Amino acid sequence: MSEKAKITVNDKTYEFPLTVGSENETAIDISALRAQSGLITLDTGFKNTGSTKSAITFLDGEKGILRYRGYPIEQLAKESDFLEVAYLLINGELPTADQMDSFSDNITNHTLIHEDMKRFYEAFPSNAHPMGILSSMLSSMSTFYPESQNPDRTDKDVELTIHRLIAKIPTLAALSYKSSKGQPYIYPDNSLSYVENFLYMMFAVPSEDYVLDPVVVDALNKLLILHADHEQNCSTSTVRIVGSSKANLYSSIAAGVSALWGPLHGGANQAVIVMLERMIREGGDMQKWIDKAKDKNDPFRLMGFGHRVYKNFDPRATIIKKSCDDVLEKLGVDDPALEMAKELEAIALKDEYFIERGLYPNVDFYSGIIYRAIGIPTEMFTVLFAIGRLPGWIAQWKEMVSNNEPIGRPRQVYIGAKERNYTSFDKR
Ligand code: MLT
Repeated sequence: MSEKAKITVNDKTYEFPLTVGSENETAIDISALRAQSGLITLDTGFKNTGSTKSAITFLDGEKGILRYRGYPIEQLAKESDFLEVAYLLINGELPTADQMDSFSDNITNHTLIHEDMKRFYEAFPSNAHPMGILSSMLSSMSTFYPESQNPDRTDKDVELTIHRLIAKIPTLAALSYKSSKGQPYIYPDNSLSYVENFLYMMFAVPSEDYVLDPVVVDALNKLLILHADHEQNCSTSTVRIVGSSKANLYSSIAAGVSALWGPLHGGANQAVIVMLERMIREGGDMQKWIDKAKDKNDPFRLMGFGHRVYKNFDPRATIIKKSCDDVLEKLGVDDPALEMAKELEAIALKDEYFIERGLYPNVDFYSGIIYRAIGIPTEMFTVLFAIGRLPGWIAQWKEMVSNNEPIGRPRQVYIGAKERNYTSFDKR
């Protein structure tokens, strides 16, 4: 495209090229702005700033479109499985049967964690939040595999780190749950699929049979797929920016887990259940909560409704709503919080106030309900999100490295004190 963007400041005009993506998204490339004019752009929260050109995930928030490497999320959720989607995101193409076998074998071979790492679990307080544990454990993996710290790592080293990360994250997560319950650890059973193995390590009890429910396995597989990437969100941008300093991949992912933990990001699914429990505790009259949500002066906010980038609907929520109904029906759960959730969902889907404002139940709302129904403790919800998001973080890190992107270093507009002279205590 030969068109240019012109920026006029105090009668001086500067020209900048436009960059057009494969879906015709257009950006003004202002990388030469400061050199030409001495000016910078200000965009707190980077809401209008493209931090990179990426070939991984496309989303259109107005139309409710989400695609990984060009494949619609609806097709992947229906027909693929999480490990295949992980392969797709990380390698750019769907695997052949042989590639898939070898990828699955590699993941299966690395599910155990170093026995010494178990001692960390004993040191955490019994009520430690599993996201804090997960982030620490992932970071500590770089100390067990010191070759990962070498910034001149080979592609083979990177591949091994990727296999270890994907293989071990369910084991690390399940161990944090078992240790919080004071229960014996369950070692991975490598005859099971990725999702089955996670459920087994979470819920099996030694010397008792653990029966896997296919409806639950399917719902969890879908949830992991739906969470696998979401272009330049807060945790992904964190992974890319930490990795841009050439920090090792384990530490970059650990930083992503910390970013995901916040209630405005991955912590939202936990916040949904906390909200439902509060509604029950403080009086289950739904109308009262709907009125509070509509009242601008009331600090109460509905958690799990609407989305920052999807203006009309979240395509992930549309897919997972069906799994949510299936899980609730299959398990026949009798739980006031889930009753409350269904009531809230029914109102929000038909109340004009919510419809007009795009306040539809989002993926965090339904994932929170599914996790609750299948017995995942509330504090583990965000950990499940992290397991799902891991391939996306890895793919984005790999892309950043292979593009040879420079270290992330935003600028600022300084608004503090002008230069002043220091005086010692006795003279102040
Ligand atoms: C995500 O999936 O990362 C969340 O929906 C948040 C976001 O995209 O900003």
